[in-house]
Amino acid sequence: MTYTSIEVHTDYPTATITINRPAKLNALNKETIKELSKALKKLDENNRIRVILITGKGEKAFVAGADISEFSDYSVKQGKELSAKGHKSLFDYIENLGTPVIALINGFALGGGLELAMACHFRIASTNAKMGLPEVSLGVIPGYGGTQRLPQLIGKGRALELIMTANMIDAHRAKEIGLVNHVVPMEELLEKGLKTANSISKNSPVAISYAIKAVNAGFNHNMNGYKTEIDAFGDCFGTKDFKEGTQAFLGKRKADFPGV
Ligand code: COA
Repeated sequence: MTYTSIEVHTDYPTATITINRPAKLNALNKETIKELSKALKKLDENNRIRVILITGKGEKAFVAGADISEFSDYSVKQGKELSAKGHKSLFDYIENLGTPVIALINGFALGGGLELAMACHFRIASTNAKMGLPEVSLGVIPGYGGTQRLPQLIGKGRALELIMTANMIDAHRAKEIGLVNHVVPMEELLEKGLKTANSISKNSPVAISYAIKAVNAGFNHNMNGYKTEIDAFGDCFGTKDFKEGTQAFLGKRKADFPGV
């Protein structure tokens, strides 16, 4: 598969997607969103891929937002469609993907860029990273899940302050408030991502996908998180991963999960 605005590098059990529009600070245009969504689907279908990393090309930006040049003359109807399509094809899609997705924030993560990072299951930033939701400075609001995921991650008051001021925060502040899990020097970012992916990939992919589902259910008003957990917990007992995990423990050996 060839892409024009992203690069996909596979090094089993991890795949790294690099958003590759550095001249535009990796801003998300329609093509990039389409390619990201396609690549994620393909990687998720590959049983040998256990973790997906998403980062930006270069040392300046993860993603500096949705591509402003694409929507500056949109109508109300087009605005609604842009947001709805983005939610469905990429942002909600990532959040609910069974394969863990980690954002490696290597610079500016603004607007749609921070929303992309927040749709990932968790985030690691380099020390030079800067994050914010500057949409109100353009006369618009975050439209790829930012008004929902930011308060989930850092609390309502902090989220509203960031959204209303349109200010950026640095990586250390982002860690302090729980927006990112770790901060490392830029030259160690990929290595930290790969190490984390490696430790995830030792565990049952089926159990991990059920855990993602149960955690997400708790944030979905149409679902009951506890009920989802009970069902998913029970479903684990019917998987080969569970048999392998328990037999390996009892046999005092390392588990080799088949992922089914
Ligand atoms: N959409 C489209 N193009 C963008 C972009 C975006 N979100 N962010 C950056 N770019 C483009 C710039 O237009 C510029 O293109 P050009 O060289 O063809 O003029 C190029 O990327 C480099 O950006 P520039 O602004 O020159 O870099 P800078 O170092 O001076 O500033 C930022 C960096 C991130 C502060 C600045 O680019 C910025 O504010 N970007 C927009 C952030 C934003 O509002 N995002 C939310 C969108 S909803």
